[in-house]
Amino acid sequence: MTDLSIGALLYEGKAKRVYATDRSDVVAVEYKDDATAFNALKKAQLAGKGALNCRISALLFEQLEARGVPTHYLGVRDSLWMLVRPVRVIPLEVVVRNTAAGSLCKQMPIEPGTPLTPPLLDFYYKDDAFGDPLLSEARLERLALVTPAQLEQIRDLALRINDELRRLLAQVGLELVDFKVELGFSDDGELLLADEISPDTCRLWDRAVSDSRARILDKDRFRQDLGGVVEAYGEVLKRVQGVCPEPRLYR
Ligand code: TMP
Repeated sequence: MTDLSIGALLYEGKAKRVYATDRSDVVAVEYKDDATAFNALKKAQLAGKGALNCRISALLFEQLEARGVPTHYLGVRDSLWMLVRPVRVIPLEVVVRNTAAGSLCKQMPIEPGTPLTPPLLDFYYKDDAFGDPLLSEARLERLALVTPAQLEQIRDLALRINDELRRLLAQVGLELVDFKVELGFSDDGELLLADEISPDTCRLWDRAVSDSRARILDKDRFRQDLGGVVEAYGEVLKRVQGVCPEPRLYR
């Protein structure tokens, strides 16, 4: 890994930067301390967030991989960098919801905290200019981003990720309320879990706490101005480390 060098900036998102490397089969992802919400209407710098999300994502990718979920993850380097396989990311935000929260409760009459059995799967069109809109089945089909067979594959993979993550996080006292994943195709056409899995992209509640604000250990602390954002992310890392001590270094 020490011989791998970082090249041109390929893409800058709200929370990460993606760089080419001198290997065509490896790209480097830098996790930033920037926090945004509501399509970047709310912004802040949260010192330490990037390193926490990089490490939490690395550990969760490794755990998912060990359970047969194909991911883009190759390893970490230093505290802010993750090395991943290049993927053609499908511009869909795939959200799995186990418990009602967030936008779901703003868009239909359902009390926050209501269990959703089976889990609810929502697709959003990932495009900031359109405000990442929720898609209907008909619009998803009309967009034709993937074939019907690929869509089935995406549904299956998202639900498998949910099953595995939910079980894993429950072991360390965390309730996986909902989460968003992004998926992509590798050069050889394999569907891979991409992007990140962190408290920026999941809702995580402390199972031992009943207070509806105190139990929040994810980006809702930032969205709702509850304070203690980085501390909450640190607590998530501590718990996740309880199941998997150190992420592998890319070599
Ligand atoms: P929502 O309730 O706001 O639709 O969010 C559902 C889940 O998706 C929640 O875990 C947060 C995550 N999420 C993202 O990762 N990125 C986003 O831009 C949004 C809106 C939600």
